[in-house]
Amino acid sequence: MDRRDAGFESHPGRGRFNAAFFRVMDAYIDWHLHKHKASVFTDLPTRVVELGPGVGANLRYLAPGTRLLAIEPNPYMHAPLRRAAARHGVDVEIRSVVGERIDLPDDSAETVISSIVLCTVSDPAVVISEIRRILRPGGHYCFLEHVAARAGTPTRWAQRVLRRPWAWVFEGCSCERDLAAVIKSAGFSEVEITPYRIHSPFLPFNTHIVGRAVA
Ligand SMILES: C[S@@+](CC[C@H](N)C(=O)[O-])C[C@H]1O[C@@H](n2cnc3c(N)ncnc32)[C@H](O)[C@@H]1O
Repeated sequence: MDRRDAGFESHPGRGRFNAAFFRVMDAYIDWHLHKHKASVFTDLPTRVVELGPGVGANLRYLAPGTRLLAIEPNPYMHAPLRRAAARHGVDVEIRSVVGERIDLPDDSAETVISSIVLCTVSDPAVVISEIRRILRPGGHYCFLEHVAARAGTPTRWAQRVLRRPWAWVFEGCSCERDLAAVIKSAGFSEVEITPYRIHSPFLPFNTHIVGRAVA
């Protein structure tokens, strides 16, 4: 297995740990995020592109029979993602490329989704421009992401103090990104973003945005 795939380097130990972590924590994370995901991952078409699907947290929001094109560079996610897709009756095709260089033509996707991925990519602005490039005019990008807390709050302080161990454990994840600003400045024709907070013991992870952008 090639650990260095189109710019993404997965560490064998942490790659496996993250695949196991998101499998074990799936129901718990969804319990926190379900209401917000359900508001944007709704009425999805039967062909969807997902950025960084991991082990398949969003398969439950797809109708059985959906064709999912998964942009997932971490090879340790692939086998559990295939198994989960089979359980949900979703036909998955995995592309082992990074969101910074999606190997799909311009204007080819109707809907792109992502959840808690832009925190981990190397360059969120480039990834968003790739999403815009592959979306057909009028196509939707539906997202839920965790973001930096307001300056001066205890959560923001925790995000700063814990940034290095957090990034080490979660393969580059940053809790300090203003992803709403990145999405708003990407040139979509419409953008709706709602900030919200969850109350989990993973304090740096508790500040989120959910929304939809139209290409
Ligand atoms: C925190 S996990 C979230 C997984 C899943 N979306 C979820 O909600 O559970 C981040 C995912 O993004 C993927 N990822 C990391 N860097 C990426 C990149 N540059 N392009 C696309 N996906 C990436 C990781 O492999 C991982 O599956």
